[in-house]
Amino acid sequence: MTERTAPPAAPPVNIPFNRPSVIGDELENIRTAVQQGHTSADGPYSAAAAEILRTETGAAEVLLTTSCTAALEMSAMLLDVGPGDTVVVPSFGFVTTALAYSRQGARIHFCDIEPDTLGLDPARLAEVMDPSVRAVVPIHYAGVAADLAGIRSVMAAWPRAELVEDNAHGLFGSLDGQPLGSFGRFATLSFHETKNFTCGEGGALVVNRPEDVERARVVYHKGTDRSAFLMGQVDKYSWQDTGSSFGLSDVLAAYLVAQLERRTWVLERRRSVFDRYASLLAPHAEELGFRVPVVPAGRTQGYHMFYVLFEDRPTRDSVLGSLRAAGIHATFHYVPLHSSTGGRRVAAAEADCPVTDDASGRLLRLPFFNELTDDEIDLVVDRLLTAARTARSV
Ligand SMILES: Cc1ncc(COP(=O)(O)O)c(C=O)c1O
Repeated sequence: MTERTAPPAAPPVNIPFNRPSVIGDELENIRTAVQQGHTSADGPYSAAAAEILRTETGAAEVLLTTSCTAALEMSAMLLDVGPGDTVVVPSFGFVTTALAYSRQGARIHFCDIEPDTLGLDPARLAEVMDPSVRAVVPIHYAGVAADLAGIRSVMAAWPRAELVEDNAHGLFGSLDGQPLGSFGRFATLSFHETKNFTCGEGGALVVNRPEDVERARVVYHKGTDRSAFLMGQVDKYSWQDTGSSFGLSDVLAAYLVAQLERRTWVLERRRSVFDRYASLLAPHAEELGFRVPVVPAGRTQGYHMFYVLFEDRPTRDSVLGSLRAAGIHATFHYVPLHSSTGGRRVAAAEADCPVTDDASGRLLRLPFFNELTDDEIDLVVDRLLTAARTARSV
């Protein structure tokens, strides 16, 4: 009688979706910030982080905020968005890209996206433009520039509409050599734990026009001219305008500076992770009916994520389930904004966004972080290909 032995069990795996890590002087900086006593906003580390971002984007001013959401809210205040106005955002996007404007009383046009970059579609934008549009807010999805030439050419006929770039994903990406975040009247950044550069929770408002700087500082400083006071331009500060408490603590700015100082290393690491996923997956795309990200010529990406678009939702869901069962924490997003409960409540009109609906059901995001190793990437790819083959054969 021959003895049957079970095949060796696959070793347990635990590959998180994101694994933030210390990459430089974060802890030393935080200690110094606390010891030197300036722990509120506008301290020396805030100045250092803002200076890096200003230099890299060529902005007139960069104001560090508690989140990208807060920066979007600042842009809504600075554009005096209110009842009677509409704002255009991609339906394939984050809640607060819309909510920052709807909470000011505007109604939202949820616009569809292009099937290749998953960024706002200029042709669909043209359909919703009218004199009520006060802002158009494209997202540079996955850190790849939206079609800004197309978007700006549509907007040219509507001078009341201002461009605000939601650049939560695309810091240090560029379009035809120009940094993302430098095209709009305003741009917003995120330093949330899940982003390329983090301080836990944080963000920034990028102010590109010199004439907006003074008011932006007032809105940032709780509606006061404290900024002018700190610069010795007035002898006391007082309430001037709308605003709120938007400033990032210098303790978190200290964390952020350490991350930004290593931007060359971070981008190079993430490029290498992206390229490895792409080179291992692309050869199987046709056979297994999926596609990998498209990065059109002239668009240097910020390397925020790697995603796969499967041929249909059941395949995506099946692969997602298999990866999770194997200890690989892949995920998906975005739930379309135009059909969400909150989105319907603030919609300017009934929105038809078939590309958004389609991408939302088919997209799978793979683990992606600075220190993801080649072995881990190979394992994710191996399990994904096996799961995709299984899903196709049933
Ligand atoms: C495109 C986009 N915009 C805005 C945000 C909000 O960023 P924060 O969490 O910094 O407010 C996110 C968050 O993931 C995002 O993906």
